[in-house]
Amino acid sequence: MKPLHILLACLVAIAACTNNGTPVYLDPSKSVEERVADALPRLSIEEKVAMTHAQSKFSSRGVPRLGIPEVWCTDGPHGIRPEVLWDDWSQAGWSNDSCTAFPALSCLAATWDKEMSLLFGRSIGQEARYRKKDVLLGPGVNICRTPLGGRSFEYMGEDPYLAGQMVVPYVKGVQENGVAACVKHFAVNNQEVRRTATNSVVDERTLYEIYLPAFEAAVKEGGAWAIMGSYNLWNGEFNCHNHRLLNDILKGEWGFDGVVISDWGGCRDDDDAITGGLDMEFGTWTDGLHGAPSDSYNNYHLANPYLQRIADGRAGTRELDDKASRILRLIFRTSMASERHYGSFNSPEHYEAARRIAAAGTVLLKNDGVLPLSIPDGGKLVVIGENAIKKMVVGGGSSNLKTKYEITPLEALQEAFPNAQVVWERGYVGSTETSFDRVDTGEDLSESRPAGQLLADAIKATEGADAVIFIGGLNKSANQDNEGTDKLDITLPYGQDAIIETLAGVVPHLIVVNISGSPVAMPWADKVDAVVQGWYGGSETGHALADVLTGAVNPSGKLPFTLPRSLADGPLKTERQYPGIQEEGEQWWQEYYDEGVFVGYRWYSSKDIPVCFPFGHGLSYTKFEYGPAKASKSTLSCAGSFGVNEGTETVLKVSTDVRNSGERDGAEVVQLYLMPPAGDVERPVRELKGFEKLTLNAGQTGRAVMELPRRAFARFDADSHRWVVDSGTWTILVGSSSEDIRSTAEIKIN
Ligand code: GLC
Repeated sequence: MKPLHILLACLVAIAACTNNGTPVYLDPSKSVEERVADALPRLSIEEKVAMTHAQSKFSSRGVPRLGIPEVWCTDGPHGIRPEVLWDDWSQAGWSNDSCTAFPALSCLAATWDKEMSLLFGRSIGQEARYRKKDVLLGPGVNICRTPLGGRSFEYMGEDPYLAGQMVVPYVKGVQENGVAACVKHFAVNNQEVRRTATNSVVDERTLYEIYLPAFEAAVKEGGAWAIMGSYNLWNGEFNCHNHRLLNDILKGEWGFDGVVISDWGGCRDDDDAITGGLDMEFGTWTDGLHGAPSDSYNNYHLANPYLQRIADGRAGTRELDDKASRILRLIFRTSMASERHYGSFNSPEHYEAARRIAAAGTVLLKNDGVLPLSIPDGGKLVVIGENAIKKMVVGGGSSNLKTKYEITPLEALQEAFPNAQVVWERGYVGSTETSFDRVDTGEDLSESRPAGQLLADAIKATEGADAVIFIGGLNKSANQDNEGTDKLDITLPYGQDAIIETLAGVVPHLIVVNISGSPVAMPWADKVDAVVQGWYGGSETGHALADVLTGAVNPSGKLPFTLPRSLADGPLKTERQYPGIQEEGEQWWQEYYDEGVFVGYRWYSSKDIPVCFPFGHGLSYTKFEYGPAKASKSTLSCAGSFGVNEGTETVLKVSTDVRNSGERDGAEVVQLYLMPPAGDVERPVRELKGFEKLTLNAGQTGRAVMELPRRAFARFDADSHRWVVDSGTWTILVGSSSEDIRSTAEIKIN
């Protein structure tokens, strides 16, 4: 041992003795930072390096010699993935790991309810803890830049403020259980096409105004303990070790003290892995994506190559100590936390939470009075469509789950109307697939009738019906809300549009339920009496939908993304914008975010393009009347620029009274958008900067109060790298959606 090591060993021994024999790092009465400081010098270089990379599909080594446990990760954002084999994506076939399947995060976003988000995070965090997992690989908050995005169902919509507000309670709820939330995929990972080989070319203004805020909120307000780097590149660097994104912004500007975990196989270079801000390398094989020898974990970039670089002096140990410190911090926050957590699994409370969240996220898009359903005893309800019976918790990619049970819409409607005849007709054949990663729903979706017969049978069944509901949409199969593939268009597959049009021609008051996790076109919306946006609602998806359709729950969901009339109406007009192009001399595909900040409703409203249903839209079975929007001041003196971490102080309060003028109790999401003064820099004509969900009994009046920080008025100036508030007359828009503005107010900023 070198003299320094002898000195250190003595100091450590003394330290240990002064703590009544218990080493500080093992003493739960000590702070996390004290325990990290005590543990780090006890580790050898080999032990530190071993912690920085996977030892199996979802785990990394601890320090057995010191009693420091391994780190166990699990997917995913909607529930705890079934245990997988040590070195394979397939499930291990355990009989005790069927979980509660919570709704997909696009549904959670559609609740616009921070309490629902806390309930979600708390519940899934309890399930992770019970399953002895230290890191939950979720939530995902990538912005829905294109309706084609294959994983929009796992994310929180098209607006950074909504996603930011909704991700914070989820993170806190998970982490109060001693489980780390690992917010993903950082960053500008907005498609599945060539996701491991595409360089997102995004200017810094767009990055700071649109693609970073949800992650920034998760870190600064949510206190996320982990972040997952994404597969793609930004600015020509792979995001799992992107110096600018991880070192300068995440760890530098935002002061992130947690761990950066690579996406599985997202680490692509030995040297960048050391210096580019990555702390834990996970993946399948050596280069993360392809076959390799069985000892591949030793060949990971942060494994033997790292040890070799340190040994031959090409790398120091400064970065290694930072990585090891962050990993130790993660361990002392989770598996070795001073406060012991126990969690719970498959509890009635968790299924009830799943049902409440799924119902609260259901969006009533249109209702000409045909809802809520009322079917008399002895009456006849006809349900048509494959999504009424197809179980969808299984599939979709890494968020695939094995759940104890999944209630389908048909089962729930049969339960809801026990004294009526509830008839189901398939109408069409979509997907007969029932399994993924060796998880199987057990359904038999085979069908012998030809398409024409299926439709004829459906039409015939509608005779004498008291009500007819079509339940269709997407189903998480390839190119339909599925990791690794994007949608090819936003037209409903399997000829559903034609079927809906045909049914609308023979059924007087057709109700359509679209189940999807991303925008689809609804060309038939004017020809049917009611349209409901349902989601992949998890174990209780059927009960939640029936709760809304029967009126047991008054719908209060709002769209977290725009439903455009057609893909062509959107901001992505060229191949270079999506899905990217190859360029001379460039190894990777290049995708240019030429639309800049004009994403989603920012585009449609600024260009006056009519949409099918707007961002923030959602009806109720009752009515809400808005009073005038009142601002706490008529002028603000907050013009000028400020630094990236400033501008959080409240500068204005805007309130409005809302009265439930209908017969039913309900809830309304009051939304606040800002319209800037005309100026040299092109800005969206409205941006969501506040919302509050008011629960109001029939006849009750409530007050929504939204606080605006200085940052709410700011645009990002890339040249100065500062936020800038422009002076002039601003308009405050308060309403029930991004287009249904109920009152306005003006504010002068000088
Ligand atoms: C996948 C996904 C990521 C997931 C990870 C582990 O490729 O991109 O979201 O958590 O690998 O399954």
